[in-house]
Amino acid sequence: MEKDTFVHSDMLTIQKSTLLGPLPDPFLGRDGRRVSSRDQWPGRREELRKDSCNLLFGPEPPRPEFVRVEPLSDYRYTRSTVYRVHTGTKERPMTLRLQVILPEKAEGLCPIIVDGDGCFLRREGYLDAALQRGIGWALFDRTEIAHDVQDEPRGTGPIYDTYSGLDCGAISAWAWGYSRCVDALEQLKLPIDLDFIAFTGHSRGGKTALLAGARDVRARIVNPNESGAGGSGCYRLRVEAVYKDGTSGREERISDSLFQFPYWYSRDLEKYVDRETELPFDLHFIKALVAPRTLFISEAAGDMWCNPVGSWQTTMAAREVYRFLGAEDKLFWYYRPGFHAHTALDAEMLAGVIWAQRRGGPVDERMFRLPFDEPPLCFDWRCPTL
Ligand code: GCU
Repeated sequence: MEKDTFVHSDMLTIQKSTLLGPLPDPFLGRDGRRVSSRDQWPGRREELRKDSCNLLFGPEPPRPEFVRVEPLSDYRYTRSTVYRVHTGTKERPMTLRLQVILPEKAEGLCPIIVDGDGCFLRREGYLDAALQRGIGWALFDRTEIAHDVQDEPRGTGPIYDTYSGLDCGAISAWAWGYSRCVDALEQLKLPIDLDFIAFTGHSRGGKTALLAGARDVRARIVNPNESGAGGSGCYRLRVEAVYKDGTSGREERISDSLFQFPYWYSRDLEKYVDRETELPFDLHFIKALVAPRTLFISEAAGDMWCNPVGSWQTTMAAREVYRFLGAEDKLFWYYRPGFHAHTALDAEMLAGVIWAQRRGGPVDERMFRLPFDEPPLCFDWRCPTL
């Protein structure tokens, strides 16, 4: 199936988009029956979880035997405190460092954003964009759990020593780290609102934040930033574009991911290289697992590798699940002008979503705008009518 979509933005022109096959219907159960009432959803959701999260990334690491939080610094002057989180098994414990930064001015308990990208350079203004809006940060470095080193063998890092035989990709291990930080926040008596926890991360960290949010319902708001393949993208939609400077770009495929980063994913993904239409899911399944909680998909208009058009398609497909659960107002998407980065503007938009959810009221007018002409949908099913 091939179609021209006349898609464009001010930085690139989309030459061609190819839909390999329609996006699968998340309401259609393994038994061939379609979900028809909301009480059937939890059962179907469990199937979705196995068919998407587990197939892509491998199993979820076990619940830890314990979580103990040791303060390392309480230098309140910068409103930043640092903790060592001890967790894993009693026999083989492991640790990660958690930094909590609270806003100077907070009205009551503040919402908090958990971000595991401590291994990345954070751009100027990124943290301040939330802090100045009364939102705190819980920061950790996911690579303290599983390494992210291309030359090392699959399964390298403390979590694989703690749980010998754990056969999941690094993204699944990193996602587990988000939940351990929430465990720690629950123990600390800090002025934070545990009902308003958001998960975010960028790129590989965005795939991680989405998976973590799909698995851990304590995340009230889930925000994968430019997470592409294995995140908010779309495996069945291929898109080729030409940038203003004449260079070309396209979306990342399973073959690309496994060529560079096989250790991020499950071993089973290999079977689907160049056979995307045989996948029992596409990335809207993972988005739909967040429903009816808040999902905020942030993309960059010029980031072709992350498949911004495909992301919109899988968001529209996930929207059917949000509609079905009566939560359509909890789904947001934003296309920042520019390229691959996690910027202060992304954090500002996330802060806007958090406050709109907490206080009610409108979100930023830049929300929902597309940097391309709206293409036809890549699926023809709709949510069941109740
Ligand atoms: C590579 C990879 C992407 C990933 C990105 C990143 O480009 O192919 O899937 O999102 O690295 O994490 O920056």
